[in-house]
Amino acid sequence: MALAAIAPLAAVAPPAHGDARRAPAADPAAAHPGAIASAYPLASQAGQEVLAKGGNAFDAAVAVSAALAVVEPTSSGIGGGGFYLLYRQSDGFETMLDAREKAPGAASRDMYLDKAGNPIARASIDGPLAAAIPGEPAAFDYLARRYGKLPLKVSLEPAIRLAREGFPLYPRLQAAIRYKRDLLLHSPDAARVFLTAERAVPELGAPIKQPELAATLEAIAAQGAKGFYAGRVAEDLVSGVRAGGGIWTLQDLAAYRVVERKPLVGEYHGARIVSASPPSSGGVALLDALNILAGFDLKVVDSGTRKHLVIEAMRRAYRDRAVYLGDPDFVTMPIARLTSQDYAAGQRASIRADKAMPSDLLPGVETAPVGLQTTHFSVLDASGNRVAGTLSINLFFGAGDMVAKTGVLLNDTMDDFSIKPGTPNVFGLVGNAQNDIAPNKRPLSSMTPTFVETPQGLMIIGTPGGSYIISMVLLGTLDYLDGMSAAQVVTAPRYHHQYLPDVVEYEKGALAENEIAQLEAMGHKLEQGSRLWGNMQVITLDLARGKVEAAADPRGEGEGLVY
Ligand code: DON
Repeated sequence: MALAAIAPLAAVAPPAHGDARRAPAADPAAAHPGAIASAYPLASQAGQEVLAKGGNAFDAAVAVSAALAVVEPTSSGIGGGGFYLLYRQSDGFETMLDAREKAPGAASRDMYLDKAGNPIARASIDGPLAAAIPGEPAAFDYLARRYGKLPLKVSLEPAIRLAREGFPLYPRLQAAIRYKRDLLLHSPDAARVFLTAERAVPELGAPIKQPELAATLEAIAAQGAKGFYAGRVAEDLVSGVRAGGGIWTLQDLAAYRVVERKPLVGEYHGARIVSASPPSSGGVALLDALNILAGFDLKVVDSGTRKHLVIEAMRRAYRDRAVYLGDPDFVTMPIARLTSQDYAAGQRASIRADKAMPSDLLPGVETAPVGLQTTHFSVLDASGNRVAGTLSINLFFGAGDMVAKTGVLLNDTMDDFSIKPGTPNVFGLVGNAQNDIAPNKRPLSSMTPTFVETPQGLMIIGTPGGSYIISMVLLGTLDYLDGMSAAQVVTAPRYHHQYLPDVVEYEKGALAENEIAQLEAMGHKLEQGSRLWGNMQVITLDLARGKVEAAADPRGEGEGLVY
């Protein structure tokens, strides 16, 4: 069946790429409250505390990120990095802070391969050799100096207090400690913080205190980025990493810089989509998929066909991710083409209404559990400034190593590189030379902090979930534009296709029985995932009424606050 017969192509206006500065929202309209949604209540409250002290959304972003580093140490931290999408209401300026980790200067393309050229098991995942140079502390300094109103001393204060005084162990953190106990036992400092004196998993409610981390945060509060990237902390980091087999140098730390990059901007059925640019693949893949879908009228097709079309769009967008994307400072990428309507029209033409296209029919270059590692938060202040921040140390507790005397848990973000062409990483993602390892290069990410703007309102969205992040943000965008509330967007069951493996994975409840039958008849391979995925944090603003909603994903224990 020709698809056009059932869903005529809509006339679609070309997206406005590349102009990061724009007029403030046409009608900032009704006064509205501020809001914060983050993965843990103590972090949302830290942001609120800083706003109450006169901070803006950017100060709150520092406070929330730093508090998450303390209370959600599985997921992000000052030993990791991420992306902050910013919007400043006073002049409509929007930008992306790239605080992504960088490969150490001594890194090399084949560093995780043995002499025969085969990947060395877990080398890019566990221990200091898996750690890239962190970006988050540099982002704190940059956010505070360039965009915030308050000194770091004030915005880091709640995190320092939580690290020093401790917070009660909660179920998800306890489960993560249990899951990673063997790895944590390799690191005496991590074991001291996260396990009991008997090396057991602590009881729920036991206080988790991190005095070394408090001291490192204090150094950042007092000296800015230099408190981490130079001086005593830097020396301790380098000697700790090297003692554990890593390759960091003082020069690597001293040379780390946050980079401001233009966000990617696209358009979908009248909504303006602002999202992460490379070295995240998120925005490119999100716009690629939305552009493909923009030519269909998803409202007139039956629900099984709608899901089929969304899956086919995901397949093509993830394939482009694998083939084309990497660090913009190192490789050239056809971004304008990949996000153009003409390219999407070509992609769309290869989609049949009645049949799945096997991924190996698409020219190109292969999977794994998804948890609640990584973290996302959304902030909107009462002046209209916004932040969508997605931060990570990659897997649970990153590389599993806490560097002695610093309280810093090392990331294992080096695994986000393609360690060998075609060899899947821990998320099953494949890549090629575009994303191979080179000294000082940033590994390709899937983190997708995003703003969705319509004439009626806006949504600030993002989530953890490795390769699943992009498909979750895509589904959340479609759901919001279909009229769902923030709470409905974060709750809706999810499905995912990432090109390779050629399988649609879905959460319980995401596909109805009839849709399963319909999709299977089209040739889709379906697998119900054994667990829930994502930890989405969403804020929505209804411009006309000034109504703000903040919703935390019920899969986690986050909190959305409107104040
Ligand atoms: O940047 C990335 O794409 C990954 N390091 C994100 C890891 C992640 O979301 C883990 N969560 N389940």
